[in-house]
Amino acid sequence: MRGSRGAPPLDRRSEILRIVVVGLAFALAACASAPEATPVTSDSLRALRWIAPQADAVKALTVAPIACEPAPPKQPTAKTLELTLGRIAFESPALLGGAAARMGLSCSSCHINGRGNADFFIAGVSGAPGTADVTSSLFSKVRGNGAFDPVPIPDLATREGGQISDRKSKQFEDKMRGLIVEEFDGQPPPAYVFEAVLAYLDSLDVAHCADPSATVEADYAGDYAAVISASTILRLEEAPADAKLFYIRAARERLERLHERFIGKGEARAQLEELSALLAQAADRIRAGSSAPDLSGQLARLGVPLVQEGERSLYSPDVMRTTLDP
Ligand code: HEC
Repeated sequence: MRGSRGAPPLDRRSEILRIVVVGLAFALAACASAPEATPVTSDSLRALRWIAPQADAVKALTVAPIACEPAPPKQPTAKTLELTLGRIAFESPALLGGAAARMGLSCSSCHINGRGNADFFIAGVSGAPGTADVTSSLFSKVRGNGAFDPVPIPDLATREGGQISDRKSKQFEDKMRGLIVEEFDGQPPPAYVFEAVLAYLDSLDVAHCADPSATVEADYAGDYAAVISASTILRLEEAPADAKLFYIRAARERLERLHERFIGKGEARAQLEELSALLAQAADRIRAGSSAPDLSGQLARLGVPLVQEGERSLYSPDVMRTTLDP
């Protein structure tokens, strides 16, 4: 009994041990959820999957070439909405199929803002950065030609490099349909969506840009605006159900992009998750033949935490830099 005087009795010791173990578990859990301890990888930030290793990743992830689109009219028209919906489809993996969509790739991963992408690189698809083999077997079961023949990704606003000049032509339409369905193994897109993509591609022109070499910040406002615009068609009576379902997928993917970058503690993540779940429910209702609920209140409310937490998110080049290279 003498030896046990200084030490607590056995049941007391196991109690202390239990407290220590529980405390440790809490401390570890807190570490795991603290943003500064979470490394950013291509698992958590999909855009890292197609950036050349030698590229300035921070710049590639936060700066984009200026879009050469027509200036929006003072009063938005049906045409304005069509061009916006065309751009959103172009920026959505939902337009592509197969391996490309699964890795999160969209048309705009190669043609950022309808332009080019000098930093684009995927092993097996690209030769030098900025090139891609669009007949790669990785993307296409149909067109994979077995040959490795990457070519530079063209700027769609200059229409240079042997591009089809008449984007209202049948030839162009057929080429785009083939691109989506065969080169990228996509489903034939809903007609409403395809028309919008063609209209968007036809609107791109360097003549719309005072300085075509200018760049813009790729901030959260673009992704937030896309979620809002994609959601507008849910309330449009004339829009067909297949197009509404397509834009729900597009909107949810943009919420995911926001979620990838709002890594801090705060309201933003919770609201992004809630909105994504509400959109999934809206899709169920549309599939069942009912009308979509009005989500405008939730959509507007999301703006508050995005503004509040924006500077701490990975949309900020400084935060991106310290997170990528701690
Ligand atoms: C992996 C990168 C990549 C992706 C993703 C991609 N493109 Fe391209 N795109 C290219 C390359 C490379 C070319 C040039 C070779 C060619 O014309 O086939 C090109 C050419 C084009 C052209 C010019 C064609 C012409 O002859 O006028 C258009 C328009 C175009 N792409 C639109 C799209 C659309 C729409 C999507 C999405 C459905 C898309 N691209 C996805 C790399 C890509």
